Amino acid sequence: MRYPTVLLAAAFLTVLHLPGDQPGGLKDYYHDYFPIGVAVSVRSITGPDTALILREFNSLTPENAMKMGPIHPEEGRYFWKDADAIVDFATAHGIRIRGHNLCWHEQTPGWLFKDSAGNTVTKEDLLKRLKDHITTVVSRYKGRIYAWDVVNEAVSDENSDDTTRILRNSPWFRICGDEFIAKAFEYAHAADPNAQLFYNDYNTERPEKRERVYRLLRKLVTAGVPITGVGIQAHWSVYEPSATDLRASIDRFSSLGLKVQITELDISIYPWEKKGRARRQDESDAYTPVLQQLQADQYKTFFSIFRGYRGTINGVTFWNVTDKHTWLDQYPVPGRKNYPLLFDTAGQPKKAYWEVVKF
Ligand code: XIL
Repeated sequence: MRYPTVLLAAAFLTVLHLPGDQPGGLKDYYHDYFPIGVAVSVRSITGPDTALILREFNSLTPENAMKMGPIHPEEGRYFWKDADAIVDFATAHGIRIRGHNLCWHEQTPGWLFKDSAGNTVTKEDLLKRLKDHITTVVSRYKGRIYAWDVVNEAVSDENSDDTTRILRNSPWFRICGDEFIAKAFEYAHAADPNAQLFYNDYNTERPEKRERVYRLLRKLVTAGVPITGVGIQAHWSVYEPSATDLRASIDRFSSLGLKVQITELDISIYPWEKKGRARRQDESDAYTPVLQQLQADQYKTFFSIFRGYRGTINGVTFWNVTDKHTWLDQYPVPGRKNYPLLFDTAGQPKKAYWEVVKF
């Protein structure tokens, strides 16, 4: 039997388009949608996860190496080694990099909020320190880091009686008022005018926090602050958020003309808790078939929503590589195992993975 030439040609071309013998990774399935990233340490890019990272992802975020504490341990002294290693690895493999982060109230160096006499630093001096820090770090990686989380988690979790108060009561806020946010974006933009600049936060799908984040963003946009978009961290769970709440946040933020990135995605098998606590004696950490299914359903729903926002969502990043090691093993309950990612403890794709790539 003879096959029509056109069919033979199509079959031949299909074979040609397969990247070697590889089945392709997340980045290939999502090629026409957005880059798919992962948060890494130096260990993840030099150890056994390296092949998986290269197969699946086309964007990297340093999990800790660029935070102010690790990268700027003393005034005027920087520790570049780990951050450089991640940037060099990504650059060598043609992988884009998101920088994380330039201004946050956690993982700050001890010297930051004190003057040489040990007193609280003045607003003027703190803004100068912020400027020096941002200028130095952003300039070093200019042209190699395509997007920065400029300000992280500045919005309060609490509903205040004072409805004009939307910011967290952090040293940044207590010393500088709300001015540090716009300034941080201006400093970053001056150091690399081509970098995309993001405000990044968690629980942005919860209606009251969504509204506070929206008001901050609106203020920045109205004032002409150079901001590209908002990072939805997406530290979610098998119980939340709802599809409706997620869509409402993407709609509300993008109505300001902002891009949206999903910056720290993981889906915990436990209900969300903020405060660290000890593990309860009766607390099981079994990853039951029911939880696996709930999680696969969540991943399926969220990625279908993300795909629907192609163009608005211009990046989706997971927070850690496989279930073998996730920050959620230690937070909020140290020693309680979690299984929040798409790859199991042996690095194999989970049920949730196949839901994410089936469309
Ligand atoms: C986490 C890291 O994953 C941990 O290794 C570290 O001990 C604490 O910080 N929101 C953020 C991230 O913006 O920087 C945090 O990363 C997780 C919550």
